[in-house]
Amino acid sequence: MTIYSRLSGVGSYLPGNPVSNDDLVTRGIETSDEWITTRTGIRSRYLADAGQTSSQMAVEAARRALEMAGVEAAELDLIIVATSTPDYIFPSTACLVQGALGNKGATAFDVQAVCSGFVYALTTADKFIRSGSHKKALVIGAETFSRILDWQDRGTCVLFGDGAGAVVLEASEKPGILATALHADGSHVGILSVPGQVAGGQVTGDPFLRMEGQAVFKMAVRVLADVAEECCSNAGMSSSELDWLIPHQANIRIIEATGKKMGLPKEKVVVTVDRHGNTSAASVPLALDEAVRDGRIQRGQRVLLEGVGGGFTWGAVLFEF
Ligand code: UT7
Repeated sequence: MTIYSRLSGVGSYLPGNPVSNDDLVTRGIETSDEWITTRTGIRSRYLADAGQTSSQMAVEAARRALEMAGVEAAELDLIIVATSTPDYIFPSTACLVQGALGNKGATAFDVQAVCSGFVYALTTADKFIRSGSHKKALVIGAETFSRILDWQDRGTCVLFGDGAGAVVLEASEKPGILATALHADGSHVGILSVPGQVAGGQVTGDPFLRMEGQAVFKMAVRVLADVAEECCSNAGMSSSELDWLIPHQANIRIIEATGKKMGLPKEKVVVTVDRHGNTSAASVPLALDEAVRDGRIQRGQRVLLEGVGGGFTWGAVLFEF
């Protein structure tokens, strides 16, 4: 019998209140609502409080996903957290989440693939479950990018936000995840990075996010349409058979260009970037949770998730909800 992995619950968490583009201007950033909206489609984002960490937001999202799935934390045998903004260098954010949820003994680790992190983590969990070794997985994308933004760099600080999204994945005789595709090209490390480290008790290098925006934009548009087609073809279907596309939420122009290249009508593309900004590994599960909870995504429908980001990394997961 083939074992599949199936999404049984989704959940998400956004910290505090929305911070509008005008709020950023009020805080002294030399920008305008008009510039940000026209170039990115972003109107607001959520920013964590000084004391709020990725693991704390991950736990909130996880509790909501577990509740929807009707699964107790103690039943989980796999916890994967995708984050580029972990609470600590170690232990992993997954172990912090595990401790907070009161689970003991599950396999727990983090995945670092920046904005593709959630699709990398979901693919990893799918492979654990399909192998028969694990049965109930919690997969989370959680980020506090506000901590690694240079608030003097208006070209990057207006783009990102904080938050977390989670799914519960369970072994099932019925699909479930139909196909996945993951890629990376390390020759582009320089176009999107936080090129710093902690060494000898000091931060060395640059601890802030640096990005060549136009290079990232071009890469993203190129790879997102390609990996969508690849993933659909791995499942033996065409992208026209998709009910929903949930691409990484970085920029409305990238999202629209991807949908257009795939020939998908706008109504099939889930968009949250206008209200969440770019929440990196959290963006896809946040958008998924919103579209499930507001009733757009129904059981039996086919959904394609896509990530793209630093590394350069990109990937897609196709599933039947
Ligand atoms: O998860 C993946 C993460 N990243 C992305 O997906 C980002 C992809 N890239 C982009 O979305 C776009 O490249 C940006 C939105 C980041 C930038 O748009 P752009 O059209 O590539 O603008 P630019 O960087 O070429 O800057 C154009 C102008 C510059 O002024 P000058 O030199 O033409 O006078 C910038 O200084 O816009 C200026 N500028 C701003 N002005 C107002 C840059 N940032 C801002 C700002 N407000 N926040």
